[in-house]
This record gives sequence, structure tokens and C-alpha cells, in this order.
Amino acid sequence: MTTILAIESSCDDTSAAVLRDDTLLSNVIASQKIHEQYGGVVPELASRAHQQNIVPVVDAALRQAGVGRDELNAVGFTRGPGLLGSLLVGVSFAKSFATALHIPLVEVNHLQAHVLSHFIERGEPKPSFPFICLLVSGGHTQILLLHDHFNIECLGTTIDDAAGEAIDKAAKIMDLGYPGGPIIDRLAKEGNADAFRFATPHIEGYDYSFSGIKTSFLYFLRDRLKEDPDFIEKNKADLCASIQKTIVSFLLKKTERAALDHKVRQIAIAGGVSANSLLRSELQRICQKHHWQAFIPPFQFCTDNAAMVGIAAYFKYMKGDFADLSLPPYTR
Ligand code: KG4
Ligand code: ZN
Repeated sequence: MTTILAIESSCDDTSAAVLRDDTLLSNVIASQKIHEQYGGVVPELASRAHQQNIVPVVDAALRQAGVGRDELNAVGFTRGPGLLGSLLVGVSFAKSFATALHIPLVEVNHLQAHVLSHFIERGEPKPSFPFICLLVSGGHTQILLLHDHFNIECLGTTIDDAAGEAIDKAAKIMDLGYPGGPIIDRLAKEGNADAFRFATPHIEGYDYSFSGIKTSFLYFLRDRLKEDPDFIEKNKADLCASIQKTIVSFLLKKTERAALDHKVRQIAIAGGVSANSLLRSELQRICQKHHWQAFIPPFQFCTDNAAMVGIAAYFKYMKGDFADLSLPPYTR
């Protein structure tokens, strides 16, 4: 039996989790509200908040798990990618904690952690290899082909903005607040997704591009606002539903193509945008159509969390893949 404490601090969520083998005992997340008033993550404020949060969050995770420090076998931590000042807090904490307890350290790649969150034991079927995972977050958009836990082939990626970034920017253009993803998701439920059409770019292979969608949305609104200054207010739900449909259809069209081309019959989604209700329901629909299996993460594992870092650390621990104290964080 292996008990792991995991730490995640790559962006604006300070999180600690405790896992016993692949079973989650606790997953504590302190989200930083401070960034809302700035309409995006302010790196300097994020690292300061991590400094304040890290000790109480780890303490709460151990308490909720009912696990003493002396029961821990390893400390897993997100080494990157992410914001340097944010990562440094988690990395330094993990190194000191593991050193003090004389237990090994396991470094985890944040993106791999998002994908491997599907292997946390929940009494439900887990994906089997090979499967495709669409990883969609505020910083990343990738179609991944998993041959095993750590043999991950990137079939396609965005050549500019990430999907979550595009959604957040669309929300910002409409002055809806930050982060825009959950707000657009909620407002879209009341709207007509076919009210407006926004073109998606033709990009080779399985790659994506989102900056053009954002620009066409911006110009479309600028023109409409000239005719009617209340255009956004009057059409908010339809605008949200339409831009959401544009982005989700684009994401899933390429994912479906990748699965067909690679003869893969299981598709998972991961990352913050995998919380999106349309993405979740559309993936289900596509998988039903092809008799494929869809793997949709529970909400607590979509956005940044340490549980996913813990499961990735567990698989690395089992391989004896440990980190040494000299490893610096990486941002990309
Ligand atoms: O994975 P994550 O927490 O952080 C990164 O690693 O980037 O993802 C955050 C992103 C944000 O862009 C946020 O707007 C988006 O996930 N997001 C959503 C939803 N919930 C979070 N996007 C669409 N619909 C949602 N329900
Ligand atoms: Zn993330």
C-alpha cells in the first residue's frame, strides 16, 4: 500500500491531495478569487496567494484523509508547465516536506496529470490503451493518443490560443467576468446556438487555431454594436450559445477524425474546458453514434487539482521514477 501526498500550484489554484494507491482520500483546493477583478491571472498575486495557502491546504488534506505525516511514502508535485512564481511555491514546499520526512519526491507534468485523472479509482470503468484524450484547458488544447500511462503521442495541438483562452476572451469581449468558461456555459443554456455563425479556420491535420474565431467574434460584435449599443445585452444568451457551439464543434470534429483514422474506440476529455456541458453531451452523442466509449471526468477533476497529480505520481512511484532535489520547475 502506497500513500502519497500530492501538491499542485501551477496556476491560480493551490491544491493538495492524499491518495492511497489509486484511491483518493482527500483533495483540497483553494481557488484564488483575487484574479477576478483583473479579468485574468496576475502571476505576482498568484504566487503570493500560493505562499499563504500552501501550508493550510496541505494540513487540511492530511486531516481530511486521516493520514499522519509518518504514513506518507512519497510527495508528488507539479514541476511544470505553468507560471514560474506559482510553481516555485509548490516545488519548494514539496522538496522541503519530503526532505524533512526522508521520503522520495516524484515530479509530475501538469498535462499528463490532467489526462491520468481518468485512472483515479471511482468504481467505474477506466479507459484501456490505446485511447484518445482531448486535453482542453486555459493553457492547452491537444489531441493525445495514449499508448500507455506515460507513452503519450501528441497528434495535434493549437498553433495559437488554447480553447479555454478563446472562451475566456469571448466572455471578456462581452464583459461577462472571469473566468468566462463557466459563465458562458451557464448563459448558453438559455440561448439558441444557431442564432449566429462564426467561421472556423481550415488547419491541416489535427491541429487547432482559435485566434481567428476570437477576432471574428470581436469584429462581428463591433459592427453590431454600431447599429445597436444594446446588442450584447439583448442577445447575450444566443451569443454565448453560438460561440460555445462553434468552439465545441471544432474541438470534437478533429477529435472524431483522429479516432477514426487511428481506429481507436475510446475517447476521453480532460482539463478545465472538459467541465463544459455541451462538450460533455456532444462527446457522448458522437461516441454513441460510433459505438465508442466516452470517458468524462467528474467536475472536481476537470479544473486544476492535486488528485490528478497524485495519481500520476502513484504510477511513477510504482516504476521507481523519483526526482532529486536539484530539479527546477519548468514553465513550458
Ligand atoms: O485546467 P484549468 O483549470 O487551468 C489550466 O490549466 O488552464 O482550465 C481553466 C480553463 C479556463 O479557461 C476556464 O474558463 C475553463 O477552463 N472552463 C470552462 C468551464 N469551466 C472551466 N470552459 C467552458 N465551460 C466550462 N464549464
Ligand atoms: Zn490545468
